[in-house]
Amino acid sequence: MALVYPRRIALACRPTPFQYLERASRKWGAGHRLWVKRDDLTGCTLSGNKVRKLEFITAHAIDNGYDTLITCGGLQSNHCRATAIAGAQLGLAVHLLLRGDEPADRDGNLFLDHLAGASVNCYPPKRFFREIDQLFRHWQEHYASLGRNALAIPTGGSDGVGVWGYIAACGELAEDFRRHEIERAHIVTATGSGGTQAGLTLGAALHELPATVWGVNVCDDEQYFLDKVASDAADWRRRYPDVPAVEPLPRVIDGYVGEGYGVASGEVFGCIAELARLEGLVLDPVYTGKAFHGLLCELEKGRFEGCRDIVFVHTGGIFGLFPQRSGFDS
Ligand SMILES: Cc1ncc(COP(=O)(O)O)c(C=O)c1O
Repeated sequence: MALVYPRRIALACRPTPFQYLERASRKWGAGHRLWVKRDDLTGCTLSGNKVRKLEFITAHAIDNGYDTLITCGGLQSNHCRATAIAGAQLGLAVHLLLRGDEPADRDGNLFLDHLAGASVNCYPPKRFFREIDQLFRHWQEHYASLGRNALAIPTGGSDGVGVWGYIAACGELAEDFRRHEIERAHIVTATGSGGTQAGLTLGAALHELPATVWGVNVCDDEQYFLDKVASDAADWRRRYPDVPAVEPLPRVIDGYVGEGYGVASGEVFGCIAELARLEGLVLDPVYTGKAFHGLLCELEKGRFEGCRDIVFVHTGGIFGLFPQRSGFDS
């Protein structure tokens, strides 16, 4: 399918490695082969899935005359940290609107946000959820009053621009599949604001990848992500009317949110520790650990029967591990 990409700024180390998990396959695979797409290696501090989206979002910002990026997320948002680092790398100012009371100890992503020189405002969760649209407007107006131009980037960089990141990643996956003679696969990823899943779902269709894409939701529920992927895809089509007509068919593996966003069970911490020892592959408790644990549970239940290859997209998140280190105590 003829696909014309908008401009992107090279921020990520691409293509990311595609690796076979030999010992994990033997231990958990039940006859399947487990592979990992190492998008945790898109960079060092500028790491994880958000970088792929930011390549397109920052190009869009610069090409449209923005000098400042405003975005939002939780206190330990990987997306906010990646935006802070990307902004510093490109000479764009970054302002982060974070959900939660600023802790006395700035750990993990929050530490890096400050180190990279982002302006940070923290809002109690109730106010954040109630007022986030007004807060974006308020800060955009504030920058306008200073003669500056601020782009509002939604949670997770998930919109019709950010979606290009994982549409393009599917081109890499097509090459990975060819190299490893993978004829058919299930692709599994964590889904939090929907953009990675939307990009992979659209990209699999556009690149004619022989794969079924699944998002393991780490918050909200199945219906939320079905709607979110559809709305990101609609925004993409609205912004780029010449793109090929593909209907995304999102698939969600629900049931692994546990007590809520950012709260992982002992089983998830156990799974992270086991995989780290077995393969030297480090996941985080908020996104990838929950998703990989969900993948293993579904493997056991037989969801992927009849298809030999399963690809886990490791979307990063390492800095979220440190503030939750006490989860490994038991
Ligand atoms: C490490 C990590 N993995 C997965 C996700 C989910 O990606 P998305 O927000 O595109 O659904 C996020 C962000 O939300 C993340 O930070």
